[in-house]
Amino acid sequence: MIQSVIDLLNNPELSREDIIRLLSITERTEHEQLIKHAYYIKEQTIGRNVYLRGLIEFSNYCKKNCLYCGIRCGNTKVNRYTMTDDEILETVEFAVENRFTGIVLQSGEQQSDEFTERITNLITKIKQATHPEFRFTLSLGEQSFETYKAWFDAGAQRYLLRIETSNEELYRKIHPDNKLHDFKTRLRCLEDILKVGFQTGTGVMIGLPFQTIENLAEDLLFLKKMNIDMVGMGPYLEHADTPLYEHKNSLMPLNDRFNLSLRMIAVLRILMPNINIASTTALQSIVPMGREYGLKAGANVLMPNLTPGKYRGNYLLYDNKPCIDEEADDCIDCLSNRVQMIGEEIAYDNFGDSKHYKKRQRSN
Ligand code: 5AD
Ligand code: SF4
Ligand code: FES
Repeated sequence: MIQSVIDLLNNPELSREDIIRLLSITERTEHEQLIKHAYYIKEQTIGRNVYLRGLIEFSNYCKKNCLYCGIRCGNTKVNRYTMTDDEILETVEFAVENRFTGIVLQSGEQQSDEFTERITNLITKIKQATHPEFRFTLSLGEQSFETYKAWFDAGAQRYLLRIETSNEELYRKIHPDNKLHDFKTRLRCLEDILKVGFQTGTGVMIGLPFQTIENLAEDLLFLKKMNIDMVGMGPYLEHADTPLYEHKNSLMPLNDRFNLSLRMIAVLRILMPNINIASTTALQSIVPMGREYGLKAGANVLMPNLTPGKYRGNYLLYDNKPCIDEEADDCIDCLSNRVQMIGEEIAYDNFGDSKHYKKRQRSN
């Protein structure tokens, strides 16, 4: 007999089979029960708080060629840009003025001594221009242990590196077959990031071609096993100028991908009650209020895009990315209204460190 969702939710230890059952829900009432339960857990552990991080996509140069991504190096249609240090500092200032307690610096993957040094200097400069507690998250891809350590020592506290999928075989299908796109290297990097001492974030894409519900259940168990502090995951969205686009007719319908993403967030919240979970922009590109639905399913972090308007149109990882005609001002106003609409509060005076990280540090 199939167990009822309510029975499952009352059992604190979800097995692989339980997770598969929850992710496979098709019935509306069951879906709502799961989402409500996850939100309840989020409310109990974190409160009705949403933490903000300002996202700065400071360069779209990338040496990689991931088969799903719009800014892959093989896409010659992209206008490449890199923001200057001054432009980045101005954006940080804007973030501080708007009471952000931290920013995320993101770019395509670049690996060189010059790049490492530039980022180290940039962290130092930003630290001088902000208060000592200002939180830095880096999302700069695969690097050596030494580079991660240099950036941590310079003052960055958090690092995001999505594993994309925890299944090696699937990883190989969505990346070119060469040394630059090696699953084992990615895993090694994630382990290094944890070892260096960062609050560590990772995540996966949901609804990829060839991906199964079993893969996704295992992704969730992987996140738990790795004991990570933060997760950003969202639906895979096709981009017309990428190799994976040829599989677009075999994909799950967008609406199903969206709801499955919400259930992934919800089950993760149940598995890891005290981590930070971001409600991603990719959710918003399927449903205008998508990120708010993510918050209602157990996510607690939003990363409003602060990239200056003139660059936004060049950082398109997937088609239909929202807010590319907006400026940072517009998004901030829009966002705080939306957060209030769903009965949550932006936690302006809270650094929003992952509670999980604090606990992990204490037990080390
Ligand atoms: N659809 C959804 N997410 C994508 N990313 C890259 N391309 C896509 C896409 N087509 C995500 C990856 C990457 C992050 C920066 O953006 O997970 O790690
Ligand atoms: Fe580069 Fe990241 Fe896009 Fe891969 S997903 S091509 S590493 S920006
Ligand atoms: Fe960008 Fe609403 S979040 S305009």
